[in-house]
Amino acid sequence: MATVAITGAARGIGLEIARQHVEAGDNVIALARSASDQLNDLAAASNGKLTIHAMDVAEDASVKAAAAASGSDPIDVLYNVAGVTGPSSEKELETADWQAWNDTFNVMVQGPLRVLQAFLPRMDKGAKVINITSQLGASTWPYGGFYAYAASKAALNRLMRSVAIDLKDRGVIVGLVHPGWVQTDMGGAGADITPAESAAGIRKVAADWTLETSGDFLKWNGEPHAW
Ligand SMILES: NC(=O)c1ccc[n+]([C@@H]2O[C@H](COP(=O)([O-])OP(=O)(O)OC[C@H]3O[C@@H](n4cnc5c(N)ncnc54)[C@H](OP(=O)(O)O)[C@@H]3O)[C@@H](O)[C@H]2O)c1
Repeated sequence: MATVAITGAARGIGLEIARQHVEAGDNVIALARSASDQLNDLAAASNGKLTIHAMDVAEDASVKAAAAASGSDPIDVLYNVAGVTGPSSEKELETADWQAWNDTFNVMVQGPLRVLQAFLPRMDKGAKVINITSQLGASTWPYGGFYAYAASKAALNRLMRSVAIDLKDRGVIVGLVHPGWVQTDMGGAGADITPAESAAGIRKVAADWTLETSGDFLKWNGEPHAW
């Protein structure tokens, strides 16, 4: 039985990762800006296995308070899932909403590090931090557009690669996973795979991650992702 913490747990991929860990009998610390009906239902049916804690990953005080309120049990897996699409328009070369850029980087880059800092004292040798990134953050992504989103995921990738190197001596494992194109509010109904398929893949990839492969960038199906 593991203890896992999940950001962005109220909907989409984060909710599904939470559901599957509850089904597996694990303890789930569900971190969400505000709980959805689905997350509340999951908590109610979990026999106390899933607890919900309010956390805005963009706010230092909120992250620290949620981590403190979630107890002191060692964390086996921290999933950094929370994300936003960020500003995007047809005119990204001509104009930009810089506050929206800052907000996007705060959620997508500083957010995962902020959350990791809050839980790191509870992460022992063999613990894992699994970051949900995107194929848009790869230099091989062949399309333009979504500047802030793509740039923030590229920054997350580089950031967590550095963190992986720095945590190696402590035995804490860091992973970067592209979750697929997933049928969520962000991915849209026409996306390739369901949240359940994506979450099952992410959980398997997370379980298989080792210190030797710490810092790697994988797809939800376990294949390596090009940087
Ligand atoms: N769907 C895809 O096809 C796809 C593809 C590649 C990568 N991803 C990545 O996968 C992750 C999950 O995406 P999704 O498809 O599940 O998106 P989603 O359905 O739009 O859900 C996004 C989640 O992030 C949370 N969130 C946003 N800002 C937050 C903040 N400041 N603090 C705490 N939580 C915050 C949202 O909470 P609220 O309910 O409070 O808004 C929500 O739970 C993201 O990192 C995304 O970039 C998704």
